[in-house]
Amino acid sequence: MRRDDIDQVYALEERIFPTPWTRKSYEFELEHNPSSEQWIIEVWAEQNEWLIVAYSVCWQLGDELHVANIAVAPKFRRRGLGRRLLHHVLARAAEKGMKSATLEVRSGNLAAQALYAHFGFEVVGRRKRYYSNNREDALLMQLTHLDQQTLSFEQFRRAEQA
Ligand SMILES: CC(C)(COP(=O)(O)OP(=O)(O)OC[C@H]1O[C@@H](n2cnc3c(N)ncnc32)[C@H](O)[C@@H]1OP(=O)(O)O)[C@@H](O)C(=O)NCCC(=O)NCCS
Repeated sequence: MRRDDIDQVYALEERIFPTPWTRKSYEFELEHNPSSEQWIIEVWAEQNEWLIVAYSVCWQLGDELHVANIAVAPKFRRRGLGRRLLHHVLARAAEKGMKSATLEVRSGNLAAQALYAHFGFEVVGRRKRYYSNNREDALLMQLTHLDQQTLSFEQFRRAEQA
């Protein structure tokens, strides 16, 4: 993600999340947070321009990766983009020697939970009434032994390219 991408990312963020990150928080992630890595997936659209259809923000916290945000544009869901993006950030983290990954997800967000379960994330905790808009609980999910997953990520990559 580059600074020029923030307009599109922020437009998606506002559409997708009931409590969206602010534009300033994206500027902070890009320019002032050394632990942060941000990725986008973009497609060449009919209007002859690059269109951002998925994005993620992750933080490296010691040897743990925290997936702070991940989203796919509504029209582009169920085509494997969420899986591809998550695979990318986990594989990079494993390559860098990180050992585990964590994230929080709304207890009612079954789509995201299913995506995370594909990669071996498990529920390890619950933060009661975590989300301010509807006091929904957050599930804390963790993927342990991230380093040992490298092989299966490689297999995933080969399967994707086949
Ligand atoms: C969660 C999200 C990122 C998934 O992205 P996606 O590109 O649609 O996901 P994929 O097509 O890669 O799907 C991968 C797997 O996730 C699961 N999944 C994705 N969407 C699902 C849905 N609506 N219902 C049930 N399972 C779903 C499936 O297991 C799927 O595998 P399958 O297609 O082989 O069944 C997307 O729904 C999204 O952006 N949601 C809103 C933002 C959000 O909730 N972000 C997560 C915050 S914690």
